[in-house]
Amino acid sequence: MQPSAAETPNATSDCPYGLCDGSGILIKRSRDGAAIKFCKCRTDAIRKNRLKFADIPEEFKGLRVNDFLTDVYTSSKDRRLAASAKRAVIGYVNNFSKMCDMGKGLYFYSAAKGSGKTRLAVSLGNALINKYNAEVRYTTTIRLLNEIKDTFDNKTGKTQAELIADTSSIQVLILDDIGVEKPTAWAEEVLFTIINERMINKKITVFTSNLSVNELRLDERIKDRIRRMAVPVICPEESIRKILAYNENDEVLKILSKEDKIC
Ligand SMILES: Nc1ncnc2c1ncn2[C@@H]1O[C@H](COP(=O)(O)OP(=O)(O)OP(=O)(O)O)[C@@H](O)[C@H]1O
Ligand SMILES: [Mg+2]
Ligand SMILES: [Zn+2]
Repeated sequence: MQPSAAETPNATSDCPYGLCDGSGILIKRSRDGAAIKFCKCRTDAIRKNRLKFADIPEEFKGLRVNDFLTDVYTSSKDRRLAASAKRAVIGYVNNFSKMCDMGKGLYFYSAAKGSGKTRLAVSLGNALINKYNAEVRYTTTIRLLNEIKDTFDNKTGKTQAELIADTSSIQVLILDDIGVEKPTAWAEEVLFTIINERMINKKITVFTSNLSVNELRLDERIKDRIRRMAVPVICPEESIRKILAYNENDEVLKILSKEDKIC
């Protein structure tokens, strides 16, 4: 239990809970001396930093696993797939420590575009930050490779080896849209290095793809490692993006058709 403000003489208005002096450290004095504890505001600050570091796209910021709808898909097969993918994510969050010990991530895939793969992967990342203060980072495969390529021009201030090492050491990496395009030999070598490093160090990688692992247009050495480090989760084959687009455009048309004069 956190001590009350009265028990923490160093409290100032810099702490949102009015418990510490804003440093995140509580000094609790008693007759037996002083004891040091961490304040609740320190956990909040770490979470805020984690969310910033995660670099989750605007569209998916703050999304929760519970908000993933399973009844929006028109076919019963897709509704079943959505429900079991959602269950897999919930099970993963609840068993995160076991998954870390095993070095197992998830591999979300379906051929359909817009069916919820990125949303599931990112909601999982959000949940791991919120529940465990995990270090999570989102990127797309193309962006990651471009960033590494940019190190040649020294645009990022880091060397290629440094960026590869940074990416390899992130606790949970969400690698969106893997393996749809056949990469160049250079890109494949970089991907191999990152994936291999992550596998041997039991880092968690969450993949999304429009292809199953067998179908990926990647070297067999990479596919073999992905099979080892991520459990496949089949996703629905219906585009919710398309449904959202129709609904939003209908809404906009309704707004646009109301006016007949510029006000
Ligand atoms: N089950 C769902 N419940 C609520 N919103 C959903 C669901 N599935 C998808 N969406 C929404 O539909 C849009 C497309 O989803 P998302 O980007 O996750 O699809 P995707 O499968 O990753 O597509 P792509 O294959 O093109 O990468 C997003 O705005 C997402 O929030
Ligand atoms: Mg996607
Ligand atoms: Zn505090």
